[in-house]
Amino acid sequence: MKIGFIGLGIMGSRMAANLQRHGHALVVHNRTREKADALLSGGATWADSPAALATQVEIIFTMLAPTQSVVNAALSEDGFLSKLAPGRLWVDCSTVAPTFSRSMAEEAKVRGIRFLDAPVSGSRSPAALGTLVFWVGGAAADLKACRPLLECMGSQVVHCGGTGAGTSLKIVMNQLLGTGMAAFAEALVLGESLGLSREVLLEALIGGAAAAPFLKLKRERIEKGNYEPADFPLRWLQKDLHLATTSAYHTGVAMPVTNAAKEIYRLAIRAGRGDADFSALYAYLAEQRDVHDGQQHAPGGNRPTATLDRPRSS
Ligand SMILES: NC(=O)c1ccc[n+]([C@@H]2O[C@H](COP(=O)([O-])OP(=O)(O)OC[C@H]3O[C@@H](n4cnc5c(N)ncnc54)[C@H](OP(=O)(O)O)[C@@H]3O)[C@@H](O)[C@H]2O)c1
Repeated sequence: MKIGFIGLGIMGSRMAANLQRHGHALVVHNRTREKADALLSGGATWADSPAALATQVEIIFTMLAPTQSVVNAALSEDGFLSKLAPGRLWVDCSTVAPTFSRSMAEEAKVRGIRFLDAPVSGSRSPAALGTLVFWVGGAAADLKACRPLLECMGSQVVHCGGTGAGTSLKIVMNQLLGTGMAAFAEALVLGESLGLSREVLLEALIGGAAAAPFLKLKRERIEKGNYEPADFPLRWLQKDLHLATTSAYHTGVAMPVTNAAKEIYRLAIRAGRGDADFSALYAYLAEQRDVHDGQQHAPGGNRPTATLDRPRSS
């Protein structure tokens, strides 16, 4: 079976490489052609446009951001959707809004194309190792048809429900990831402002019950101040928090914490950290702590003075 793959960024390039490693013939397209070089050396065929790719394949995977790039790949003049033969399958692995997945499924359906939303959990390393988790929305029969391909790229494939169920679950997970990182970064900055060493803080927080398990994976980056190249670019996590808050708007759910966190990510992007790993949110907040705000702050925090600590003589 010839497989089309569009979007060869951090995730897509590695996912496609795993399909290739399992012996599948690939036709690939990416905005930046050089990112396809390794796949082309491995025998993949280059297509100049999503439309040109569509005429050669039986199934298409997309792994793109932002959402508009999915729209362009599928529906622009050079898009693949109108060029795919009826009955073919489009699997969108991009993290997008559930409403968007449903509208793409409709666009596909009117052209006789089957559609699955199949976003993933796991970053650069799981993508390379083929240990991603796929959260899939759509018809069980369509998942059955492409499950062996998903299993080349992931170690777990979860059928979450109908169209949009995969992207629904994915944005819920990234809501937790994004707010979790923001809370952790703020805690670290608070601890340091109180005079605690970063080493003591990381040991206590990451070793303790209150911190999310993923923070263990971010410890080294924070210790070394090394946020590039990104495993998961900060700008894409802000995108996901936006997808969560706009989805919540439609369902009538209040998201005060997520909205606040989303704006901190926006400020970090404006400060030039959008391409960095999302753990750079800590570096952004730490940098803000050092900006002089015109007030006197007690170094090491407002600890009680020695005089006040002294026991009173009776
Ligand atoms: N990185 C992670 O840890 C991770 C984990 C789970 C899910 N995801 C999701 O996976 C998707 C891809 O993320 P990634 O980390 O692989 O990001 P990435 O490295 O930035 O790749 C983004 C992809 O989209 C393409 N693209 C961006 N703007 C475009 C435009 N205007 N027109 C056409 N193509 C465009 C890029 O093309 P170029 O190569 O030309 O830039 C690239 O192929 C996103 O939806 C993200 O939320 C990421």
